[in-house]
Amino acid sequence: MSTIWHTGHATIEIHQGDITRQQVDAIVNAANARLAGGGGVDGAIHRAGGPAIMAETRQKYPHGCPTGSAVISGAGDLPARFVLHAVGPVWNGGGHGEAEQLTSVHQRCLELARDNQCHSIAFPAISCGVYGYPIDQAAGIAMQVAGRWGQQNTAPSLIQFVLFSSDVLEHFRNAANQILENV
Ligand code: APR
Repeated sequence: MSTIWHTGHATIEIHQGDITRQQVDAIVNAANARLAGGGGVDGAIHRAGGPAIMAETRQKYPHGCPTGSAVISGAGDLPARFVLHAVGPVWNGGGHGEAEQLTSVHQRCLELARDNQCHSIAFPAISCGVYGYPIDQAAGIAMQVAGRWGQQNTAPSLIQFVLFSSDVLEHFRNAANQILENV
């Protein structure tokens, strides 16, 4: 079941699911700075999308991508057109610029989506797995960025958050309820 909010020009949709199966223009990968692949959502995207994605990122971004930013590739065998490889921060207590980096990584994905004519984008809970970011705080940041984006930009007009587990889903729904009415 999806929950939907409208903010400015954008529809923000939150639901539980597997991001690799989303029929959107761009899906976001929770990658690492070397773009080396991994477990979690990164592993799922490369498994489902096939080797073309890694071949492209190796060729285009041999030095990887800094924390707090993102790069774009094709999506191989996935239903999406693009994968945005987003490097979120590792949680290290909160005093090391984590919030700024988590904000900028969401922002950068939305910019890449807009600049590549994407109408729809799906985010996972960046940094909320192996990278250990407190989920309630991460959800608040994700909703702040998405809400502001919708006020100021016309595309992408559909911003989805696709959460793998019900507890993460609940945190994102709570954050949306608190934040999206007030942006
Ligand atoms: N669809 C949606 N969400 C998923 C999926 C999936 N198929 N698989 C896992 N998730 C969820 C996790 O449950 C978690 O809530 O994505 C969230 C992010 O978790 P991670 O994938 O561990 O990402 P992150 O915390 O940003 O850590 C990134 O992990 O896999 C490595 O290479 C990656 O080093 C990088 C690090």
